Order: sequence, then C-alpha cells, then structure tokens
Amino acid sequence: MEGAAKMKQPNEQGTLKTERGGIVVLDFGGQYTQLIARRVREQQVFSAILRCTTALDEIRKLEPAGIILSGGPSSVYDQDAPKCDPAVLAMGIPVLGICYGMQWIANNLGGTVEPVDRREYGPAQLNIEKTKSDILTNFPDTLKIWNSHGDNVLALPPGFHLTGKTANAFAAAEDPNRKIYTVQFHPEVNHTERGTEILRNFLFRVCKAEPKWSGAAFIEESVEAIRQKVGSHHAICGLSGGVDSTVAAVLVHRAMGDRLTNIFVNTGMLRKNEFEHTLEMYRERLGLRVIGVDASERFLTKLHGVTDPEQKRKIIGREFISTFAEEAEKLQKGEAHGNIKFLVQGTLYPDVIESVSVKGPSATIKTHHNVGGLPENMPFALVEPLRDLFKDEVRQIGRDLGLPQEILVKHPFPGPGLAVRLLGEMTRKDLETLREADAIVVEEIRRAGLYEKVWQAFAVLLPVRSVGVMGDGRTYGLTVAVRVVQSDDAMTADWVRLPGEVLERMSTRIVNEVPGVTRVVYDVSSKPPSTIEWE
Ligand code: XMP
Repeated sequence: MEGAAKMKQPNEQGTLKTERGGIVVLDFGGQYTQLIARRVREQQVFSAILRCTTALDEIRKLEPAGIILSGGPSSVYDQDAPKCDPAVLAMGIPVLGICYGMQWIANNLGGTVEPVDRREYGPAQLNIEKTKSDILTNFPDTLKIWNSHGDNVLALPPGFHLTGKTANAFAAAEDPNRKIYTVQFHPEVNHTERGTEILRNFLFRVCKAEPKWSGAAFIEESVEAIRQKVGSHHAICGLSGGVDSTVAAVLVHRAMGDRLTNIFVNTGMLRKNEFEHTLEMYRERLGLRVIGVDASERFLTKLHGVTDPEQKRKIIGREFISTFAEEAEKLQKGEAHGNIKFLVQGTLYPDVIESVSVKGPSATIKTHHNVGGLPENMPFALVEPLRDLFKDEVRQIGRDLGLPQEILVKHPFPGPGLAVRLLGEMTRKDLETLREADAIVVEEIRRAGLYEKVWQAFAVLLPVRSVGVMGDGRTYGLTVAVRVVQSDDAMTADWVRLPGEVLERMSTRIVNEVPGVTRVVYDVSSKPPSTIEWE
C-alpha cells in the first residue's frame, strides 16, 4: 500500500495506558506476524509489532508483559538471517518463540538447528509429552497443528525440556525458569486446534497480562490524548465517505468539537447520490462540521482525453491534493486565523507496519490514491488516532462511537472512485451511465441480502460496443461488467458464485433502465492473477 510508512517505532505517538503491559511481537518477516498481533488483541491484550532489530530500550518503553518472536522465511544459518539482540532473552520478560522464533532461540542458547529432508508444511499431529508444561496444559494427548518450516531443532538448549513433538520434529519446548517458551508450529493459525488456548496460556498464565485493551478504554484514552496534543489549536480532516476517515473524524470531534473542520471533496467520480447523501449523514447524523467541495468540473477537465490508468490515478491524486490544500488555506486565512496546526488522518496499523526488515517493500502494482495520502509538505502536524488499530478494530470503535451501521458495513471504495471502473477516456455521459448501472448492481445485491456478505459489488463500464437487437431495431451499445468478490483483506479475492436469479435481475434491469447499454457480462476472475478493480 502506498504511503506505508516505516515500521512503527514505539512511543512515536505516545503510548496509551491500556497499551502498556501488552505484548511486543518482534517480527522476523513471517507471513503470520500480523495475525499473531491480532490474536493477542482478540484476548483484549494490546500488541505492537516491532522490527526484530528494535533496541531493548525501545522495547522497554512499551513496558510489555511478554515478547513473542515471530516466524520468518529464513534459516538461522543464512548469511543475512534476521536477528534480535540476544539480550531480549534475558530481560526478565517471558518470551514465546514461534517457528523461526523457536529456531532462533534454540540456536542462540546452545541448541542445534538443521535443515531437514522432510520439511513440514501444512497439517500435522502434535503429540504432547507427559512432562509438565505451562502453555500446553490440560490438553488431550494429541492436537492437530499447522506447520510451515524447513529447518528443525535437533537438540534443545540446556535448561529446556521437550513438551511436544511431531513424527519428524521437536515441536514444542520450554524453560520455565527463564520463562522462555517455544513452538515450531503456528498456534495463531485457525487450523491449529486449540491454538488460541496456547496463546492464552502464554498471555495469562505465564505473562500475567491483564485483559484491559477494549474499545471503550481506547476511545476514552485517545480522546484525552488528542486533547493534550492539540491544546487550543484547530485541526482539519479529509473525509472520504469510508469507515476509516469517518471514525478518525468522529473520535477527534469528540476531543475538540467544532475546532475540527472536515473537508469532503466531490471528485465527480463518486457513486450515484453519494456526495449529497454522505454529506448529509456527516452533518445531520454525526454532527460533524464539514465543508463539502464540489470539484467535479475541475477533475473532469483535467482528465479530458486521458486514457492511461496510471495517468488517471496520478491526475486524480494531484487534483485531490490541490483542492484540499486550497480549502485548508481558505480556512487558515479565514475564521481559524492561522490557528490550524493539525491534520487528522485515518491511517491504520497495517499501513504503519511493513516488514521491510526482511522482505523489503512490495512492488507497486497500482498507484493507490487515498485520502490518507495527503501532501507531506503541508504545514500541519499529524493526528492519527487509528494508527494502532486493525480494520476490524476500527469497525468496533465505530460501533462503540455510535456510527450508523450503513457506514460500518460499507464496501471499500477506491480513492480514484469510478475512474478506475470506467475504462479508457471518461466523459460525463459515460460516468452517468456507469453510476446508473452501479446503483442497480448494489440494489440487487442488497435485495438478495448479500451486501454484508460480500467484500465488494460494483459495475464496470467497458468501452466495448456490440451488436444487439431491441424491439425491431438493431442496437450497437456499450457493455457493463458486473464484479462481485469475496475477500478477507483484498490481498486475494475470489468471484462470488451469485445465484442465477440475481444475475438475471441485474442484467435485465441494466439493459432496460440504463440507456446505451445492451450487454451485461459477469466477471469470473480471481485475484491473483486479476485485481479487484479493472484499472
Ligand atoms: P485491487 O484492484 O488492487 O484492489 O485488487 C484492492 C482493494 O483496494 C481498493 N483500491 C483502492 N483503494 N485507493 C484506495 O483507497 C486506490 O487507489 C485503490 N485502488 C484499489 C479496491 O477497491 C480493493 O478493495
């Protein structure tokens, strides 16, 4: 994701009370690192992901009750294998090493790790030893577990005893005196039976963590922290109509009332009635102070004749920034009298953490333009109240703040809006056509009771004409593609097997009700290799 900043450094924003006494996850670049952090938070214990190389002092500032060392793609013997400061094992804070984390611990404390002929990927059976264990306690003799490793711990370090093994490997071991626990499998993955209990045992039996991380506590503390930060100054916020910017604005509004002014720009690429409807919701239902800027003419003029998708995205991003900056300047010169010192952004935790330590930044496939990606050279300090939260936590906070359901369940919508769904050049007429077709797709998805069950549902207008027949006449009209996908995080997606009747209603209505469209097709591509949006 563009704008993904460097890995979070502790205390950048100042830690909240409920964030102390949580878990620090030191990242070795594992594919499940974020999942580990989420699983911990599901137990109402705060978790922060830090690079594996983070200095001990920085770790201490978070006052963690425990440390988890993540998995990772490397072998401990690789030249550039990621490393922690070995002193993390001697801080007096309990440690749980998962997969590579276990191997790194074993290698550091005098055990041996070796690549093996029989790699273990996927499901396996864990046989629990009869010895006493703090984290594999009160379990049956065997559990189904999920593995993903090529190396094995062949000899345990002194002080450790084996607590579980698979047919091929030492799978779990611990040193209760030093409070160091290791598992070679992945308790954070759903396929591991009773994985949550293993994590809970570590959190509550071993680390004695307190389950105090909750939405209500977060809101209360953030509001107080924002008040402290902004003092008597003013702030502005760019709203997109999506859940993140809305939750950020409502939270900040709680802290500073109408000293927060929000700006909502109509780029001309919004969906049918979206500008008016959203503006009304912001003002009437949420009580926010919002300036609605209709800049559609300006955007469309700049986009005239442009067909290249990346060009379109860049132009929209640029125009958005200048529109926003102009409005901010007007405010600054007007009633706020140079008093606007802060810019509110709905940055989320996944934007902040990036495993640059091991994997390097992922290649840009499409330039993403977000309202969150405002210019860096604006003379404002940032207020990012959601930068410690995952998406599902933001929804929960939104619910706790009393936001309407409509906004909490709203499908994601790209920053460049309909521009990436209207292929090729954009004209006002074609945008109108797309808006009408899109409204029908969404209406029918709602009518079928599927809106909250699918990730996204929308129409795409293709610059492809085909021959048809309507009444007695030959037609030569445009094509609408219907795209409905299921996904967990937009990284991968599958097309939804819609019932025939739903497709039929969409197709009939679009051809009958949207002038100029004579053909409807359904997009049956998954991501990868396709993407969710068409441009
Ligand atoms: P793709 O098309 O890359 O989209 O599979 C993945 C998810 O991201 C949304 N998307 C965007 N969101 N700015 C955004 O804020 C953008 O430029 C953008 N492009 C795609 C898309 O709707 C899907 O949910």
